[in-house]
Amino acid sequence: MSAKLMEDVMSLCKRRAFVYPGSEIYGGLANTWDYGPYGVLLKKNILDFWWKTFVQDRDDMVGIDSAILMNPRVWEASGHVANFADPLMDCKSCQERVRGDKILEEHLKTTIAGLSNAEIFAKVMDEKIPCPKCGKVNWTEPRAFNLMFKTYQGVVEDTAEQIYLRPETAQGIFVNFKNILDSTRMRLPFGVGQYGKSFRNEITPGNFIFRTREFEQMEIEYFVRPEEKEALFDQWVADYKTFFEKLGIPNDKLRLRFHEKDELSHYSSKTVDFEYEFPFGWGELMGIADRGTFDLDQHTKFSGEKLQYRDPVTNELFVPHVVEPALGLTRTFLITLLSAYEEQKLEGDEMRTVLHFAPQIAPVQVAVFPLQKQQSEEATKLYKELKPLFRAEYDESGAIGKRYRRQDEIGTPLCVTMDFQTVEDGCVTVRERDSMKQERVKVEELKTYLFSKLM
Ligand code: GAP
Repeated sequence: MSAKLMEDVMSLCKRRAFVYPGSEIYGGLANTWDYGPYGVLLKKNILDFWWKTFVQDRDDMVGIDSAILMNPRVWEASGHVANFADPLMDCKSCQERVRGDKILEEHLKTTIAGLSNAEIFAKVMDEKIPCPKCGKVNWTEPRAFNLMFKTYQGVVEDTAEQIYLRPETAQGIFVNFKNILDSTRMRLPFGVGQYGKSFRNEITPGNFIFRTREFEQMEIEYFVRPEEKEALFDQWVADYKTFFEKLGIPNDKLRLRFHEKDELSHYSSKTVDFEYEFPFGWGELMGIADRGTFDLDQHTKFSGEKLQYRDPVTNELFVPHVVEPALGLTRTFLITLLSAYEEQKLEGDEMRTVLHFAPQIAPVQVAVFPLQKQQSEEATKLYKELKPLFRAEYDESGAIGKRYRRQDEIGTPLCVTMDFQTVEDGCVTVRERDSMKQERVKVEELKTYLFSKLM
């Protein structure tokens, strides 16, 4: 894969209403992106597919939608105030700001987890790593830069309480653990799913929507008995493998990478990342972590509220362990696009750009065309019948070949064309996106046909 693929996908995203640069008419705001009419559909369809797979279709899962703004003590308890920081270094010559660990990793071409700020500084100076902007070796010592966005609650800023925009959706689940136990009949093992916006003041955002400061997550906290943890951890890895397969992500673009001991987050005793082969190299797609009892213990300590589980049969009281599959929605959106994108050479010099989306997540599932204006009325009638059942679009402008290309570019799996023969034989032409094969289908059988192909 090349950098060209990322450029091509970004250009398609802008041209075909998937993703626009944020606040563009004001000159933009660095690393912010807006999801356009097809983008918002694709993102929602991925989210719905995740929710259906991991919440709706399972008896051991429930959902929650907790507030983005939380009591600041939550982030003290979770360890984010103390630990959620990157080592920031400034170039004293040109004021360029970099992550000390990142320039060291790039220089040494290896991961360097577990080093203290003083050790990072010593190594950067020993290796004489120059500033990427001005080329001088004139660094400040690293200082911890907390990635949480701060804001104020209340009208008068100096008397108002400082709070944070949540950096992960997970804590909203932990702080509601007791509420969920008291108000539902969930029994171990069970999980809680939550999706929504998270915010991190990343020092090095970039690679389009791969790393942004505002992004969306789809997280699960799965509460288990300690003795069943290992097996359930492996089951989550297997379940996500299947999920990515169904999403249309090729197997050879994914790999699993276990974290080294010194690389683990402060809350985790074991983490495995699903990595994807992005055009810029292998990068994290999601993490599955063994969080043990860390979060429930910490919130018990900081809130005074006992976060425990009583076994209904044995009456045993204990703190459940947690397995956490944490996936980024906006990052999944990116890999879905990268995996689906193809520029295909057709006969002669003709080319087409096609997005091979799985039908369940395609922004438009079926497009309806009249071959000529004479069939407009009948084709519109058919479109209106299909619209409540499928994500459908109507198009009568331009030559039929052009209309097919437009739908290929947004990944529409099927196009239905009504022509002059339809009046005689009661059939329409259905054209399939990937094979470009066409077949005649009876109008009265069309809905059943579409259900079998698209749902
Ligand atoms: N609750 C655990 C947690 O948040 P994480 O590995 O920091 O773990 C989980 O984040 C996922 O969220 C990542 O694997 C990635 O998909 C997504 N993510 C994290 N930071 C992101 C960012 N700045 N931009 C886009 N996605 C991000």
